[in-house]
Amino acid sequence: MAIESRQWTLASRPTGLVGPEHFNLGNTTVGEPGEGELLVKNLYLSFDPTQRGWLNDGPGYMDPVQIGAPMIGSGLAQVIESNNPDFAPGDIVNGTLPWQDYAILRNEGMMPLTKASTDFPLTWNFSVFGITTLTAYFGLTEVGAIKEGDTVLISGAAGATGSAAAQMARIMGAGKIIGVAGGPEKCDWIVKEGSCDAAIDYKNDDVAAKVLELAPEGVDLFYDNTGGPILDAVLANLADGARVVVCGGIASGYSSWTMPEGPKNYLFLILKSARMEGFLLFTYAEKFPQAMADIGKWVQEGKLAVHETISEGLENAPAALQGLFTGKNTGKAILKLADPE
Ligand SMILES: NC(=O)c1ccc[n+]([C@@H]2O[C@H](COP(=O)([O-])OP(=O)(O)OC[C@H]3O[C@@H](n4cnc5c(N)ncnc54)[C@H](OP(=O)(O)O)[C@@H]3O)[C@@H](O)[C@H]2O)c1
Repeated sequence: MAIESRQWTLASRPTGLVGPEHFNLGNTTVGEPGEGELLVKNLYLSFDPTQRGWLNDGPGYMDPVQIGAPMIGSGLAQVIESNNPDFAPGDIVNGTLPWQDYAILRNEGMMPLTKASTDFPLTWNFSVFGITTLTAYFGLTEVGAIKEGDTVLISGAAGATGSAAAQMARIMGAGKIIGVAGGPEKCDWIVKEGSCDAAIDYKNDDVAAKVLELAPEGVDLFYDNTGGPILDAVLANLADGARVVVCGGIASGYSSWTMPEGPKNYLFLILKSARMEGFLLFTYAEKFPQAMADIGKWVQEGKLAVHETISEGLENAPAALQGLFTGKNTGKAILKLADPE
C-alpha cells in the first residue's frame, strides 16, 4: 500500500527565532514497511525547546536535522502495518516521528519506540506522564534535594516542566513556591492553577527586587528552566546552602548560534555555600518506574493536575514549535493531527 502524506522539511537554518519560514510543507509517498519497520498514522506531536537545538549545524547530543530532511519530534502514532513482532496493527506507539500525516518508523535512535498507554487520554503520555513531569521530579529530588519548608523558586513556571515542578514542590512539602512567567495572564494562571503562592512577571517586574520582596530569607531551591537575566537575579538572592537546579536555558541561547555569556552573579554561590548543578533526565532512567508510580498515585489522588495546550493540524507544526519561544503555551504544548481508528 502506498499512501500520500503531507511532510514538513527543514528549508533553512534559523539564526534567531524559529518560525514557519524555516520549513517547507510538501508531499511525499509513504511506501510499504521494510523488515522491522512499521507503517503508522501520526496522531499527536509534542513540542520541546530542545528541538530548536536540532536545527543548528553544530555539536549536540544528536545529529542536526539536515536541510531538506523531514523535521522530527516526539509523537504518538497508530500502527497500520507492522513488520516488527513487538508491535501490532492498531497499537499506539510513542517515539520520534517525522512531521508527517503517515510515516515509516524503525525502532532505533535515542528514543526507542514504546507502546503508549491507553488507560487515560492519549495526550497524558506527553503531559502528566511524559518527559517534562519526570524531568521536574528528578530535578527537584535528585538534583535539588528538596526539603520540607524550602522556599522554592521556579522559572518557566507556566510551562510543561515548570508547572509540574510547582505542583510537585507543593506535594513534597515546600514552604513557599514562587513562579516566574511572562505577562500578567500567565502570572495569574500560575497562582490560580499552577500551585504557586506568588508570581513574578519577568516581562514587567524588576525580577531581583521581586525575589527579595517575596523571599526575604533567600531562595533555598531555584529550579531554573530559563537561565539568562532571571538566573542572575535569583543568584543574588539565595539562602545559605541553596541548590540551583539547571534544567534548561531557553532565555539564554537556544535561539542563537553561540553560547551565552556566563551568569554574572555566580560568586554568590561561594557566599551562600550554595551549589548549581545541571542534569539530563535520562541519567535517572533506572529510577523512572518509582517516579512513575509516585506520579500515578498523585494523579489518582487529585494532587497533580494535567496542564496542556493543544492546537490542531499538521499545517500548524512550525507555529507550535515557535510558540514555545514566544510563550504561547501553558503546560505541555501538543499538536493533534488525527484521531486513532
Ligand atoms: N535537563 C533535561 O533533561 C530537560 C528535559 C526536558 C526539558 N528541559 C528544559 O526545560 C525547560 C522547559 O521545557 P518545557 O518543555 O517544559 O517547555 P515549556 O516551559 O513548556 O515552554 C517554554 C516556555 O519558556 C518560556 N520562555 C520562552 N522564552 C523565554 C525567555 N526568553 N525568557 C523566559 N522564559 C521564556 C515561555 O513561557 P513564558 O510565557 O513564561 O515566557 C514558554 O512557554 C527548557 O529549557 C527545556 O530545554 C530540560
